[in-house]
Amino acid sequence: MEFLGGRRLRRARQTAWSRAMVRETVLTPSDLIWPLFVIEGHNEKTQIRTMPGVERLSVDLCVEAAKAARDAGIPALALFPNTPDHLRSENGAEAYNPDNLMCRALSAIKSAVPEIGLIADVALDEYSSDGQDGLVRDGEILNDETVAVMVRSALVQAKAGADIIAPSDMMDGRVAAIREALDDGGFEQKQIMAYAAKYASFFYGPFREAVGTGARLKGDKRTYQMDHANSDEAMREIEQDIAEGADSVMVKPGLPYLDIVRRAKDNFNIPIYAYQVSGEFAMIEMAAAAGAIDRKGSILESLYAFKRAGANGVLTYFALEVARDLGR
Ligand code: PBG
Repeated sequence: MEFLGGRRLRRARQTAWSRAMVRETVLTPSDLIWPLFVIEGHNEKTQIRTMPGVERLSVDLCVEAAKAARDAGIPALALFPNTPDHLRSENGAEAYNPDNLMCRALSAIKSAVPEIGLIADVALDEYSSDGQDGLVRDGEILNDETVAVMVRSALVQAKAGADIIAPSDMMDGRVAAIREALDDGGFEQKQIMAYAAKYASFFYGPFREAVGTGARLKGDKRTYQMDHANSDEAMREIEQDIAEGADSVMVKPGLPYLDIVRRAKDNFNIPIYAYQVSGEFAMIEMAAAAGAIDRKGSILESLYAFKRAGANGVLTYFALEVARDLGR
């Protein structure tokens, strides 16, 4: 056979050692951030119908999970509370109760497992009766009033032991407001990981079941989360959050938005994380359970894809399992 330069690209793929030599990206436990769902109670775990294999855990079990994560080399956890119904309200005041479920989980994990980083989600949906991330008046999501509540929420989280404040609400100006409040409160070393390019996505369905907001959500989140048709706008969001003081930014969801991850990586010099969200997790688990795809193989392939696209790390419900597999 005759072809250009006699170059046979398959040569490098013939053996395992050669494939290892030319591999361009690596996946290690330190790339993986593990989201945990917290519930009240002791020694309590509950199943999530749409997230097979993921459980909501009481604070004491979160501590055990944190130890397992640390031992597997996972650098950080992202916590999400399932607030009891009677504490959810229109004004989301539970968000800044210093003794709320989130704060108790943060402080319990911080004192038992100080080596692991703790990322606290800041948004009102986990505390509000309508499941919206912001305060609502006459059907409108209020921006500046919401930011004021988020600042208070971030401060109680920082005090409880959060290392990284992660606003996931998409209100304008929240990064600057939280940065200023953290600095004024003596929390200069607390980082902000901004959910900068967060899309109004159908892939969040299982998460909303997990934190108990799905059934109560009125309407959608399209006046604050981004339109999935847009990419330039994501660059503006990221640029703005960096200008306001974000230490790192996030793109979310993950796999359907790898073009955004790559574009962000090429355009900004800042750590970029991607969130392999609940619906992506469910797609892999359910397709694997149906015998359609190889489970472990698909999980690893999806995580490599994030790294290849330029993500510095991935928030993934597969984190513990994969970190353990990688360490073997
Ligand atoms: C909102 C929040 C959501 C997720 C993380 N933070 C859901 C939403 O915006 O409705 C979704 C994560 C996932 O789907 O895994 N505070």
